[in-house]
Amino acid sequence: MDPRTSIIEKRLAGINRIILVASGKGGVGKSMVASNLALSLSKKGYKTGLLDLDLYGPSAHIILGVEKYDLPEEKKGIIPHDVNDIKFMSIVFFTEDKPAPFRGSDISNVIVELLAITQWGKLDYLIIDMPPGIGEETLDIIRLVKKNEFLIVTTPSKVSMGAVCKLLFILKELKLPIIGIIENMKMEDSSYIEDTVSKMKIRYLGHICFDKNLEKSIGNPDMLQKTDFMIDLKNILSKIV
Ligand SMILES: Nc1ncnc2c1ncn2[C@@H]1O[C@H](COP(=O)(O)OP(=O)(O)OP(=O)(O)O)[C@@H](O)[C@H]1O
Ligand SMILES: [Mg+2]
Repeated sequence: MDPRTSIIEKRLAGINRIILVASGKGGVGKSMVASNLALSLSKKGYKTGLLDLDLYGPSAHIILGVEKYDLPEEKKGIIPHDVNDIKFMSIVFFTEDKPAPFRGSDISNVIVELLAITQWGKLDYLIIDMPPGIGEETLDIIRLVKKNEFLIVTTPSKVSMGAVCKLLFILKELKLPIIGIIENMKMEDSSYIEDTVSKMKIRYLGHICFDKNLEKSIGNPDMLQKTDFMIDLKNILSKIV
């Protein structure tokens, strides 16, 4: 047995709620939802952490505008950087945002290591930006982060929902808590996603419209707070907190 797995429980013990932002599909807006969710929770006064566990494609640092990759301070573990009042941890602080092609078991090792070394302290919320799909990393995180709740993101497309349904099926099989589904990048009126998730007895939390101005605000948390994306997300937030 890996002795680090027992440390992980201790490291996460001071956190009230751990929300895993996931999807069966890539590119649907997980990182955007996770980063903005952390921003708005912290703005509301909650002690918030954000952990980017998408090791092949970390992107929360880009959304939050992190440009310096100083190694985090070491003190009986690693203290996450403070970014806009969010305790933020990402692989980029160790790779300096250079490409890090991990193989097979390396990826599991890095996930275990990040979870085992990070000193979150007391938090109201830890938001985890999950890797896309239902691969080994996702299964590792489910296994290692015991107190988890899933916030699922899809786009309005049947293609996206098809992949998301598979993830939902697995989560239900494993009896893991699902907060609900966010329909992101909505462009026209359709009840397809709402109807599909209702049939699966999963909560439809609402939609976020496609925001053509969102790109301009990436990297600038103050501007992100004022986007239409954030307005829609805040409407959904009241159903989560
Ligand atoms: N509601 C929206 N309106 C406009 N653009 C959006 C919206 N949501 C996300 N985007 C954009 O879509 C792209 C994908 O978003 P994001 O990186 O958050 O997806 P992801 O699910 O995390 O992707 P990956 O699976 O690669 O990790 C980004 O360029 C993001 O800025
Ligand atoms: Mg992402």
